[in-house]
Amino acid sequence: MLYRLFISWSLVFGLSAAQDPCAAIAGKKWVSPQEARACMFSFPVDQDRKSSLIETVNKTLAFHTSVNYQKYVHEDIHADLARIRATSYHSDFDLHLDLYNSFRRLNDGHCRFISAYLPTPLALLTAEDGTQQVHIAPEAFSIASAEFPDQIEFWQASLDGNLKGQLASLSGAKVLLINGHNPFVAVNQNAEITGGYQAFSTRQNSFFSSYSRGAKGWSYVMGNFAQLVHPLTDSVQMTIQRPNSSTVEQVTLPYRARIGSTVRNFTDSESYRTNMCRNVTATNGFNFYDLLTQQETASLPSAAYFEQQPMLDHEDRKHPMNVMLDALPLTDVELPEELLPLPIALNQSYSVAQFYMLSDNITGVLALGSFSAANFTAFMGSLLDGLQELKSQGASRLIVDVTNNGGGYICIAHWLHRILVGPKNTTEPQAGLYTCARAGTLAQTIVEKINKGGDPEEVLSYNPSQWRNSSNLPFSVQSHWLRPTVNLTINGHEDAFSPRLGAECQPFEMTPPEEGLFEPENIVIISNGRCASSCSLFSITMAKHEGVKTVVIGGQQNAMQQYCGIVGGQSTHFTEIDTEIKSTHLKNHTHAPPDFVLGITWRLAFGIHNPAEPEEWQDHPADFNLPLTLKTQVPGLSVSMSII
Ligand SMILES: *[C@@H]1O[C@H](CO)[C@@H](O)[C@H](O)[C@H]1NC(C)=O
Ligand SMILES: *[C@@H]1O[C@H](CO)[C@@H](O)[C@H](O)[C@H]1NC(C)=O
Ligand SMILES: *[C@@H]1O[C@H](CO)[C@@H](O)[C@H](O)[C@H]1NC(C)=O
Ligand SMILES: *[C@@H]1O[C@H](CO)[C@@H](O)[C@H](O)[C@H]1NC(C)=O
Ligand SMILES: *[C@@H]1O[C@H](CO)[C@@H](O)[C@H](O)[C@H]1NC(C)=O
Ligand SMILES: *[C@@H]1O[C@H](CO)[C@@H](O)[C@H](O)[C@H]1NC(C)=O
Ligand SMILES: *[C@@H]1O[C@H](CO)[C@@H](O)[C@H](O)[C@H]1NC(C)=O
Ligand SMILES: *[C@@H]1O[C@H](CO)[C@@H](O)[C@H](O)[C@H]1NC(C)=O
Ligand SMILES: *[C@@H]1O[C@H](CO)[C@@H](O)[C@H](O)[C@H]1NC(C)=O
Ligand SMILES: *[C@@H]1O[C@H](CO)[C@@H](O)[C@H](O)[C@H]1NC(C)=O
Ligand SMILES: *[C@@H]1O[C@H](CO)[C@@H](O)[C@H](O)[C@H]1NC(C)=O
Repeated sequence: MLYRLFISWSLVFGLSAAQDPCAAIAGKKWVSPQEARACMFSFPVDQDRKSSLIETVNKTLAFHTSVNYQKYVHEDIHADLARIRATSYHSDFDLHLDLYNSFRRLNDGHCRFISAYLPTPLALLTAEDGTQQVHIAPEAFSIASAEFPDQIEFWQASLDGNLKGQLASLSGAKVLLINGHNPFVAVNQNAEITGGYQAFSTRQNSFFSSYSRGAKGWSYVMGNFAQLVHPLTDSVQMTIQRPNSSTVEQVTLPYRARIGSTVRNFTDSESYRTNMCRNVTATNGFNFYDLLTQQETASLPSAAYFEQQPMLDHEDRKHPMNVMLDALPLTDVELPEELLPLPIALNQSYSVAQFYMLSDNITGVLALGSFSAANFTAFMGSLLDGLQELKSQGASRLIVDVTNNGGGYICIAHWLHRILVGPKNTTEPQAGLYTCARAGTLAQTIVEKINKGGDPEEVLSYNPSQWRNSSNLPFSVQSHWLRPTVNLTINGHEDAFSPRLGAECQPFEMTPPEEGLFEPENIVIISNGRCASSCSLFSITMAKHEGVKTVVIGGQQNAMQQYCGIVGGQSTHFTEIDTEIKSTHLKNHTHAPPDFVLGITWRLAFGIHNPAEPEEWQDHPADFNLPLTLKTQVPGLSVSMSII
């Protein structure tokens, strides 16, 4: 399974207005899943577009580092593509769903703004006697009424008998069965298809609600039960026991499909297709040396919508990034006030980085929702200032809460590691992992072009001047940094990679302190396991090099809870690779894919304990697994505030 795949392709069709199922939902905010599907499934497959799509995916995969590794670990993507090419589909959306399910993480521009909701997010809670039980989250009604005020009446009315109008009383109920089966049947079915994290336990956790720290505040994550990527399910039946009740009751709740507020207006099938599903300039790359296009591109929305990080300035995108793409954008459900963390955040807090001092006056908390924030330099400064302020207030212990942190700037991960533990052989000259890039034919040709002066402004990612060799010394502009290629046979397939690459972030643009701010034994990193990309780089180097303890909160007992997943040395989008191709005038190369959007892992990171193999496929068991209880309410947040 490919984690960061994300596709978009264009297909425009007209239907007569009289029977146009998209016209039927135009202008509405909420519709039934059936109505949404009638529109989404109404477009036939265009065979030329389908062929072009498959060609594009196939050629773009040549830049993705782990295709051959995946064959053993998860999925043979090339075999999937061959199967999909040979299959005929009733509709374009059926084709999309097959790609989506095959690739797990593959998501496209189609109808991506319609997801389906239930007002009852779930939580897996542990009782005082240690037993675990799925519950409707105690905060469910509070969240649903704040987020879906215009749908609450619909759900109230849909409840039967004495429960009609009693949605609030469901909050905190035990969920004994979902659709007649043990809830873990649904949890595990979702874990099979939700993609994202390697660890099954982490994918199980995705079913349940959690929280995240965004740029503007705390958000609630509904979880895969209460928020479906696609409106494919009409309703769910739950067998429940409400709090303080001995009665076992049945409830059936319909999903409601919401046409998101960021959706461009459509009136019928044609405008739906044109406005929502077509590739636009920004979903393609551009020739960097064509300034007009560059400006146009900067002003348009892009795949960035699905990155699990705040929206960034185009300018700051020059910093190498390692961020997870997901099928849904980062949550925008606000956390109600009563669920916010109690201590007041320190003034040094900035955006996704919030600092708290606990009431013991010796434990500081850094809640870090992302490794990206709008202003790279301000973010760097805030991390240093906030930690120094905690220290000056007497903190000698630090909790770093990286719950739902999907990654971000690689150099912020290195910076945080370096300032926390000080200068050591594990932080200087490099506080990250050694990496390599895939050295496919087209990639090698791009570097050849650059060697011959094809990138005078030194802006391209394939420019040797961006990289250092494994002795941490810079490559000259003339050196072909992908060669001599390292030729490997992976799962029986021949593959070629660049030689090992070294330090990339230092010297930092700010001077780090001469001594570490906290002793590694006094630092813990906690999360719900959903810590990806740059968050993984940070957590793994802190755990494996510095011995920092890791904690996962929640999750099924006895399942191995991993403190991170989705490692990668650097991730990028096809858009960025397309920019490299166009800027070096190689768009007509036989290996160059047509215009498209696809997220890829561009550099692979080598392991710490097993440096010969990518860190990606190694286990990362957490040192501790703390249970969530009824008292912890929003998963984890109050736990992290009370750990001593
Ligand atoms: C993908 O490309 C390879 C050659 O690069 C080719 O052998 C294979 O048939 C292609 N697969 C599909 C599904 O087009
Ligand atoms: C359940 O009963 C306890 C004790 O009477 C009470 O404190 C609590 O508020 C009740 N919970 C609900 C959801 O009614
Ligand atoms: C959609 O149309 C409404 C009014 O018809 C308008 O207020 C809104 O700004 C439009 N949205 C977009 C994204 O164009
Ligand atoms: C969209 O993709 C098609 C097919 O690859 C391409 O011909 C077209 O130029 C693209 N449109 C835009 C606006 O980039
Ligand atoms: C933090 O900022 C607030 C508002 O600007 C200010 O009132 C307060 O004194 C500041 N606190 C500290 C400790 O500087
Ligand atoms: C922590 O510091 C505050 C303010 O200085 C003080 O009121 C409180 O008693 C201290 N708490 C402990 C546990 O020392
Ligand atoms: C980013 O932050 C730095 C440091 O605070 C500041 O000097 C700079 O002006 C900021 N940049 C922008 C674009 O706001
Ligand atoms: C760092 O130095 C220690 C001893 O000082 C050594 O054991 C360790 O292997 C070194 N680590 C690296 C990554 O060089
Ligand atoms: C790195 O580059 C320097 C300078 O060109 C060179 O002396 C050194 O041998 C290189 N190291 C490796 C491992 O290639
Ligand atoms: C790797 O393979 C390429 C192309 O097949 C070849 O030119 C190169 O010499 C090989 N490299 C090594 C180190 O064997
Ligand atoms: C690509 O097109 C350019 C002209 O636009 C031509 O000079 C070049 O030879 C072509 N390259 C390939 C690989 O066909």
